[in-house]
Amino acid sequence: MPGLAVTTLGLSGFRSYSAAQLSLDGRPLVLLGANGAGKTNILEAVSLLSPGRGLRRASAAEMLRQPQAPGWKITAGIRREGQLHEIETWANAGSARQLRIDGKAAPQHALGRLVPMIWLVPSMDRLWIEGAEGRRRFLDRMTLSFFPDHADATLAYERSMRERNRLLRDGVQDVAWYRAIEARMAKAGATISENRRQALSLLEAAQKDARTSFPSAQLSLVSRDDTDGVFGQDELQAALADSRRRDMLAGRSLTGPHRADLDAVYLAKGVEARQCSTGEQKALLISLILANARAVSRQSGVPPIILLDEVAAHLDANRRAALFDEICALGAQAWLTGTDPQLFADLADRAMFMQVCEGQNGSIVSATDPP
Ligand SMILES: Nc1ncnc2c1ncn2[C@@H]1O[C@H](COP(=O)(O)OP(=O)(O)OP(=O)(O)O)[C@@H](O)[C@H]1O
Ligand SMILES: [Mg+2]
Repeated sequence: MPGLAVTTLGLSGFRSYSAAQLSLDGRPLVLLGANGAGKTNILEAVSLLSPGRGLRRASAAEMLRQPQAPGWKITAGIRREGQLHEIETWANAGSARQLRIDGKAAPQHALGRLVPMIWLVPSMDRLWIEGAEGRRRFLDRMTLSFFPDHADATLAYERSMRERNRLLRDGVQDVAWYRAIEARMAKAGATISENRRQALSLLEAAQKDARTSFPSAQLSLVSRDDTDGVFGQDELQAALADSRRRDMLAGRSLTGPHRADLDAVYLAKGVEARQCSTGEQKALLISLILANARAVSRQSGVPPIILLDEVAAHLDANRRAALFDEICALGAQAWLTGTDPQLFADLADRAMFMQVCEGQNGSIVSATDPP
């Protein structure tokens, strides 16, 4: 029995679902169904059991079932190291997302402690090619799975930076005011930097004991300004004070961990990730996700929940088998989606299978036989 699993998932008024209820036994789950059936919507619902806006980064309003739902709600039973927990998260039309854990109102970052989670979705296929923001988000998601305080630090940092940017844009000159805000940014920013740095070294170590043929990546933090994007508290406080004049011209903060980027080199070939083939880039991401899962499992004794949207179709048969074997060896509850059941034949007696289809009154999900 895995150390962490979603055991029940209920959806109402969420995306294509007017109502649905899933019962899970803790093994990996394969969701099968045609395009548009509602598979990714289920993964998105699960992703909302961790801090943030979920795997589509959508607003609460976008998730509301159109046309008629007055609100949406996700209810989940979680089993973590033998203990049962209940998570309820919901939003009524026109208001923000709310959260209750075990019947009590809770802030979102509390989810980071309870449910470590990582995911891979098709939009990340271009992660190594596109802007730094996606890579930073990917790194931060992995970092959060090691260090639950990463969410608090990120929130604190962003809140102070918004305040500072407002002063910069308004042309405020009051040095004491900047100093107070920059002190808060420096404190949170140093935590962010240190968490990321430690996450990278945990990932590096975990990649070394990969049991499979997924390629390893050498990871490093870089930045577009003249720093490496890693800051100690005093260093960041000084850097912010130094760049005030420049930042005022730009109307925003140009230095800090919010400008960091993640660099990856495909080790076996010594090639930058962005120069690799599409398949190699995907394999690198999967390799990192698996390394992350191994490392989290080793560190906390609990493997993270892993959401893999449309991953199987992009892998050759050997890599697909390797992925399934790793997931099962970890004892992680992975949620996999696909349109072709045959791709999951190898998991037949090691996973649960469900079929998703479009019904009269929204998507329907029901247990189905393995391929
Ligand atoms: N807010 C919403 N209200 C109602 N329906 C929605 C809402 N948001 C998305 N949908 C519908 O959900 C369906 C898509 O679901 P989803 O993305 O889960 O499909 P999928 O099974 O993952 O398909 P694919 O195999 O193409 O990825 C679409 O038909 C879309 O119109
Ligand atoms: Mg989908």
